[in-house]
Amino acid sequence: MVSNPVYLALDVPQLDAAKALAERVKAHVGGFKLGLEFFCAHGHHGVHEIAHVGLPIFLDLKFHDIPNTVAGAMQAVHVLEPAIVTVHTSGGRAMMEDAKAAAANGTKVVGVTLLTSLDERDLMRTGVEGNAHDQVMRLAELAQAAGLDGIVCSGHEVRAVHKRWKDGFFVVPGLRMNGNHADQKRVVTPRQARDDGASVLVVGRPISRAEDPVEAARAIEATL
Ligand code: C5P
Repeated sequence: MVSNPVYLALDVPQLDAAKALAERVKAHVGGFKLGLEFFCAHGHHGVHEIAHVGLPIFLDLKFHDIPNTVAGAMQAVHVLEPAIVTVHTSGGRAMMEDAKAAAANGTKVVGVTLLTSLDERDLMRTGVEGNAHDQVMRLAELAQAAGLDGIVCSGHEVRAVHKRWKDGFFVVPGLRMNGNHADQKRVVTPRQARDDGASVLVVGRPISRAEDPVEAARAIEATL
C-alpha cells in the first residue's frame, strides 16, 4: 500500500493554529506543505514544530537566484530534512543543477514552471512568445535535463507531462472535490490527478477552511 499522496498546505498565519490543524488531520494526509509566508514568519523553528507532528515536510520556497546562492540556501535547509523543496525552472539549467547537487540525498527537488497567476498576456509582457502550455513543456524538459526530480504542474497538464517524463515526480496543486463547486467551472479532483500521474497532491483550503477539516481530509483520502 502506497502512502497517502496528499500534502496539506498549511497556509495558516499563526503557528499555533497551523500546528493544531496538522495534529488534527495527520491520520488522513501524507505530509505538510509549508510555503514562503509560513517560512518568513516562523523560520526553522516553525518547520521543526510542524515536523514534530511526524509527517514529511514539503518546503515550497520556490528558490530563484544565481546558482551559488540557491545552492547555499539548499544547504541551509538540510538540517530541516525536507522531503521536497521547490525551485523556479526559469532560474535556468545551471541553477537547477546546482540546487539538485546541493540538496540532501532524501530530498526531491521539484521545479515550478509557470505560476498559474500568469496568463498569456503577462507572459508576453515578460518577453515569452507562444502559449502557456508550450512554455510549461519547454521548462519541464529543461528541468529534466538539469537533473531535477520533477515539476509542479496543474491537474490539466500532469497527464501530458507524465507521458514525456515517465519516472518524473509530479506535484499537483489547485485540486477540488467535485461537489464543492456550485458553478460549472472544470475542476480536477485529487483522484483524477493521481490517475493522470501525480506523485503528490497539494490540497489547502478544501481541508483547512472546511467546517470539519478531519472529515474533509478523510473524504479526500477515501477517493484515492
Ligand atoms: O487552493 P488551495 O488552498 O488548495 O491551494 C493549496 C496550495 O497550492 C497553496 O499553498 C497554493 O500556493 C498552491 N497553489 C498553486 N497553484 C494553484 C493553486 C494553488 O501553487 N493554481
